[in-house]
Amino acid sequence: MTELPTDFRRPPGPDAPVPLGIDPETLARLVVLRDEYGSIVSLEKPSGRLAYFINDPFEVRRLLVRRHAKYVKGPGFERVKMLLGNGLIVSDGDIWRRSRTMIQPAFKVQNVHRLMTVMVECSDRRAAAWAKAAAEGATINITEETSAFALELILVSIFGDDYENRLLAAGSNPFEFLAKDSTRDLSVVMKVRELRKLLLEIIEERRQRADERFDFLSMYMQATDKNGVGFTDNELLDELITLVVAGFETSANTLNWVWYVLAGNPEVEAKVIAEAERFLPDVSAVNSENTTAMAYTQTVLEETLRLYPPVWLFTRRAREDDELEEYDVPPGTDIYLSPYILHRTAEIWPDPERFDPERFRLVEGRPKKDRPYFPFSLGPRRCLGEYFSFLEMKVHLGLLLPRFSMQRVSEEDPGLELAINLRSKQDILLRPSERH
Ligand code: HEM
Repeated sequence: MTELPTDFRRPPGPDAPVPLGIDPETLARLVVLRDEYGSIVSLEKPSGRLAYFINDPFEVRRLLVRRHAKYVKGPGFERVKMLLGNGLIVSDGDIWRRSRTMIQPAFKVQNVHRLMTVMVECSDRRAAAWAKAAAEGATINITEETSAFALELILVSIFGDDYENRLLAAGSNPFEFLAKDSTRDLSVVMKVRELRKLLLEIIEERRQRADERFDFLSMYMQATDKNGVGFTDNELLDELITLVVAGFETSANTLNWVWYVLAGNPEVEAKVIAEAERFLPDVSAVNSENTTAMAYTQTVLEETLRLYPPVWLFTRRAREDDELEEYDVPPGTDIYLSPYILHRTAEIWPDPERFDPERFRLVEGRPKKDRPYFPFSLGPRRCLGEYFSFLEMKVHLGLLLPRFSMQRVSEEDPGLELAINLRSKQDILLRPSERH
């Protein structure tokens, strides 16, 4: 490890080096470190680099909100960077700031509302497949179903008509491998590179036709920076691939867990159904007022994200000197923050393993207490798709849950797959039947 000054304030931690990645072993190691050394731990990685694991809600917030500019994205993102180039999730500094300012207006609430019809159509398409399975007494693979739903939704939201006319023209969805293969290894990177050619053709066709459309691609193509300059083709392609990857896997995984949890919690399920029947009695009732009124469903989604935050581990690297309340952070330090561990720390969330949406109930329109909770991150780099994802999940559940009752096929715990995203280790099978 590099020499540290003698008055350097270092958090407690083990003497022996600790390997950290983005994998199950890392989760187990971080939990042991928290139990042994407390909410801020320092360690040395086998490379000699200093790393801190921070599980203190106050320091997590401070680092992500006020101090965010002192950090860049950390280790473990190498493959993702190969996939997403300089896209929003992986870029830093001025490149990130410019892109974020250009893209943010596309995610305004009123724009997301205009995509609600797409959310309904994608839910309806699932209903057709599930009705068939129900009639045959067959099971459905809800892990694949929620992936297909969220992938189709994000692709139609980005490409509009071009999804059907251009992306599906060759007979199948060319992005499907992203849903099937959760690794982000080199073969995935190569397939995405191939796809860039097709996306560029779509962009060029649009430039020539210049007709009126509403989708993310047209909003991204019109976006300009403070000098009136738009994205180059390469920047645009990086941002489109980023939006596909960021926009489908996280929501798909959350919905996968919601269906699993609801199938094991009939009382909670009954309340979600009652709320859906009240506010979304049919497709014509799907509007922003009614989806906002689905407050109980919102708590169910929030509690699911507490237990299963798709981005379960965040990494950062200090660009410059920083300090925590009691400790120093030298430049180059790797930082590990885990919503999964923080959300399951008993002193912060009592009885943490219990699924209880009541934790998120609003009292007089306000959260019960200030919640140490960050499934969408916090601060300037907070997720841009938070509102979009809650809306898509409410529409999906609100239309499908009152119609289909789902039985678990096995009582075995599906386990956790801890990679860049937290997925279920086993695909979850459910047996649908029509309620009415
Ligand atoms: C349950 C669903 C979702 C969860 C839990 C989630 C979570 C997150 C988290 C934790 C980050 C920050 C990662 C980091 O800083 O290391 C992030 C960033 C981002 N998310 Fe989401 N996300 C979800 C859905 C979506 C959707 C549906 C979209 C798009 C439609 C989206 C677009 C983005 C983008 C563009 C960023 C990069 C923001 C930036 O760095 O400035 N997300 N998301």
